[in-house]
Amino acid sequence: MKISLEEASERLKRGEVIAVPTETVYGLAASIYKPEAIDEIFALKKRPSNNPLIVHVASTEQIRDFVDIFPAGFDTLAFEFWPGPLSIVLPLADDKIPLRARGGLSTAAFRVPNHPKTLQLLKETGPLVMPSANLSGKPSATRIEHVESDFGENFPVLDGGICVKGLESTILIHREGKWEIIRLGSLSPDDFFEILRYSPEVNIKSSAPLCPGQLYRHYAPKCKLILDPTSREGNVILGFKERDYPQSLRKITLGSLHHPEEVGENLYFILRQLDVENIETALVDIHFPKVGLWGTILERLHKAAN
Ligand code: TXA
Ligand code: MG
Repeated sequence: MKISLEEASERLKRGEVIAVPTETVYGLAASIYKPEAIDEIFALKKRPSNNPLIVHVASTEQIRDFVDIFPAGFDTLAFEFWPGPLSIVLPLADDKIPLRARGGLSTAAFRVPNHPKTLQLLKETGPLVMPSANLSGKPSATRIEHVESDFGENFPVLDGGICVKGLESTILIHREGKWEIIRLGSLSPDDFFEILRYSPEVNIKSSAPLCPGQLYRHYAPKCKLILDPTSREGNVILGFKERDYPQSLRKITLGSLHHPEEVGENLYFILRQLDVENIETALVDIHFPKVGLWGTILERLHKAAN
């Protein structure tokens, strides 16, 4: 159910949970000052309680209420990438952010999203926690109909159209003097080179993950995905504009091999569409470059197929 910016702001201030757009994916939003609304987010998503939420703010200024000590390089990263698809984990000065929102950690991930309506909203409401607006485990929502499919037609959504990035924010943490990526996302390691003078290491597979979300199943449609275009199962293939596949396969186009951004924007829509069309098995052509944003796309496909 579409609601106006004004209604969105009122509902959040009253302690309700609503969905809001960002440039990456839709988020389920609650005020950080409304503990019951935060509990409701975990219940609605069926999200494990130790998986923390990202705190979204209108500007870096709003973060100074929660953080005293900023790691070296924070200011340049914030200046360069915010508003945008970057979340930065920071040590908290006190307990102002409810424990339940940060999954019991003494840090919080912060982000300034790049969407005009949501930036306006954040100015009015103050900081909002916002996980992706999908049931835990499912592909994230990149359109209003995805939110309605997971939470019902009457669920209040601030309509922001289609999410242009289509993949979640990249999450950075500062450890032992360097920035590390703990969740791949819309920004790839190389995107940081000019600013940091190095590409941050990707640290997503350690036994005790730095990003609690890595422990859980993600992005998975009901449809069985086989990341091998030569497999003989099924009669659908997720592939590329430029390629032809055997006649026996119906091609669903992920986008162009020359435009990973386009593939990123389409990916969750297509994964969800497989279930809308009751497709039971789909092959995926993963013979694409492995650099830049393709790295995030491949990681999402592996998780979706798992
Ligand atoms: O693009 C995005 O980041 C979207 C939009 C709505 O902003 N949000 C999003 O939230 O993807 P969610 O909850 O689906 O994923 C947040 C991830 C989880 O994997 C969580 O474990 C991690 O961020 N996270 C949150 N706080 C953290 C912290 N303090 N330290 C490490 N990881 C953290
Ligand atoms: Mg999520």
